[in-house]
Amino acid sequence: MEGELKVDGSKNAVLPILAATIINNGESVIHNVPELRDVETLIGMLRAIGCKCFFENGTLIVRSNQEINVNVPEKPVREMRSSIILLGAVLARCGQVKICYPGGCEIGPRPIDMHLSGLRKMGARITEAHGYIYCECGKLSGTEINLDYPSVGATENIMLAATTAEGVTVIQNAAKEPEIWDLQTVLNKMGAKISGAGTSTVRIEGVRHFGSLEHEIMPDRIVAGTFMTAAAITGGSVLLKDVMTEHLRPVISKLTESGCTVSEYDGNRLFITSNKRLKAAEVVKTLPYPGFATDMQAQMMAVMTIAKGTSVFIETVFESRYKHVEELVKMGANIKVDGRTAIVRGVKKLTGAEVMAGDLRGGAALVLAGLTAEGTTIVDNVKLHVDRGYDKLEIKLARLGADIRRV
Ligand code: UD1
Repeated sequence: MEGELKVDGSKNAVLPILAATIINNGESVIHNVPELRDVETLIGMLRAIGCKCFFENGTLIVRSNQEINVNVPEKPVREMRSSIILLGAVLARCGQVKICYPGGCEIGPRPIDMHLSGLRKMGARITEAHGYIYCECGKLSGTEINLDYPSVGATENIMLAATTAEGVTVIQNAAKEPEIWDLQTVLNKMGAKISGAGTSTVRIEGVRHFGSLEHEIMPDRIVAGTFMTAAAITGGSVLLKDVMTEHLRPVISKLTESGCTVSEYDGNRLFITSNKRLKAAEVVKTLPYPGFATDMQAQMMAVMTIAKGTSVFIETVFESRYKHVEELVKMGANIKVDGRTAIVRGVKKLTGAEVMAGDLRGGAALVLAGLTAEGTTIVDNVKLHVDRGYDKLEIKLARLGADIRRV
């Protein structure tokens, strides 16, 4: 695989930012919005609650100056866990919201207890009944919230809710993911007073008035990482443009340990080259940012299946995120799982098979494995899972020289 590729805007940054557009009661002009199913789903939800959303020359414009319906439609929330982000945004704008329990990728129990306890601490009255969450507050009050775990979604939901709260909210043990920083930037552009995103303490001073905003979504570090692993597994050379190399440190570090060469230019371009004589990265332990992202675990595991030696994966973020293992084993990989640990013993080659994507990143990992496997690999369920987070993955890989097509 050889060539260059521009990395699109980040899925995990754009979703909370779309939710934020509900708050300003004005116009939000958003550039670099990735064309993904999850993004379409959230735009559909914004429309359903009363926002006007349309694309103009590839830029998304959201107008939220109509009345907002506080009943969030059920179906999309059940499909996509991250739609729970509407909870904080609608609450900030309207003082009440009714939303059902979210669904999404099946990667273990993904409770929302920290989202709810944070909002309760700010004065929200929350009733949970018949699969629905009813939340009302009139006005929330700023307070100090200590998260038991640096949850990305809980940090974002509390930030959104706190923008219109009375007084100051301080989130301790906040998630430090770069996408939180992009959300802070957007909220501040519309008039909020937030500081500390990217550190474990985020401070939000509630304000009353918001205005319109224009923003360009940050590049997707997981998509960038996935193409880096695609280059690694195929012994290719790829130049990635429009990346933030700073966000890719853990992936760069593991791929370098495995024998790839990575060069960075101006903080926003990265060249990776692999000669396919990969060595096992000894331990890949997923952690909250700035640790190794759980969203890159499956793709890195695909690479390690053909690396010389043994790698140990420890998944600390989600309880059961090894659905791809069984499928990789069908392709000849040697992997043993015990709880949150997976031992990968590198084999000389993988062989093509018919495999099933069980979640978004696991599906991407199977596509990567198919790039190196001998013979033909068919990955099922791509539309259901992989398209949620990758825009035309097969076309981009084919442009880089992969023999891949959608059937
Ligand atoms: C976000 C990302 C997802 C990524 C994950 C971890 C988006 C849209 N999604 O998901 O791609 O894999 O961060 O980096 O940004 N938890 C609780 N109670 C809560 C909230 C979370 O127990 O109230 C647990 C979860 O079950 C999980 C862990 O905390 O085990 C991390 O979850 P969290 O950081 O909240 O992930 P998401 O925001 O859902």
